[in-house]
Amino acid sequence: MSFIEQIDKTRLPKHVAVIMDGNGRWAKKQGKDRLEGHSQGAVRAREIVDAANKIGVKYITLYAFSIENWQRPDSEVRGLMALLSKSIVSQFADLIKYNMRLLTIGDNSMLPADVREDIEDACAKSAQNTGLNVIIALSYGSRYEIVNAAKSLLKKYAAEPFDIDSLSEKDIADHLYTAQIPDPELLIRTSGEVRISNFLLWQISYSELYFTDVLWPDFGEEEFYKAIVDYQHRERRFGKTSQQISQ
Ligand code: IPE
Ligand code: IPE
Ligand code: MG
Repeated sequence: MSFIEQIDKTRLPKHVAVIMDGNGRWAKKQGKDRLEGHSQGAVRAREIVDAANKIGVKYITLYAFSIENWQRPDSEVRGLMALLSKSIVSQFADLIKYNMRLLTIGDNSMLPADVREDIEDACAKSAQNTGLNVIIALSYGSRYEIVNAAKSLLKKYAAEPFDIDSLSEKDIADHLYTAQIPDPELLIRTSGEVRISNFLLWQISYSELYFTDVLWPDFGEEEFYKAIVDYQHRERRFGKTSQQISQ
């Protein structure tokens, strides 16, 4: 039985986050340039968005470029930025056709102006769509996000009296890039690396983690469904006992 047939549609994760890793190693294995790995990675990203849409996931977050990735060689950074713009512009018509909403998390101000404009334009034009939310983590770093949340809170309360002891988890969550987005139930990382690499540290506190050796450019639809099935076999306890959960 294929993995898609094993999925219980009544117990889907609402939000799946993905660390799309392994493009460089995939390219190396094929004797190709790293950028060709990123191109094939972009093809897979599209395929996985369609797969998420097909089964009825409501939010998918794709880690496309971290704050730390700015340290890569200029040629790779430029190639990745060009690929991002190209992918978003060329897939914009389908985004609208399938009623998807494009969002980004991260510091857009660091992006080249033309890339930022293309992305912000697609986000604005799809803002009213009510289907799958496609969230691209771009120039994203989780610690950076948390520091910015602290700054916003301090600025907000600098002018008005505030009881410090009333500060809550919700106050922090409301000042993250993900304020309007539910926490992911499932986090997938490809390529065999078993680490988080500064991704959604706050938001994945109780996410189920799924690691696979498959390199991102090889991560097809069935691999995605396999991860969902694996997730559905987990027991999420949130600190409680098994017995409490089954009651
Ligand atoms: C992931 O693939 C894409 C980005 C980080 C932009 P990598 O480029 O990290 O590929 P590896 O890890 O070197 O194989
Ligand atoms: C994480 O991958 C970032 C993205 C997938 C965009 P990296 O390849 O940058 O992570 P490290 O350096 O292996 O931790
Ligand atoms: Mg990598």
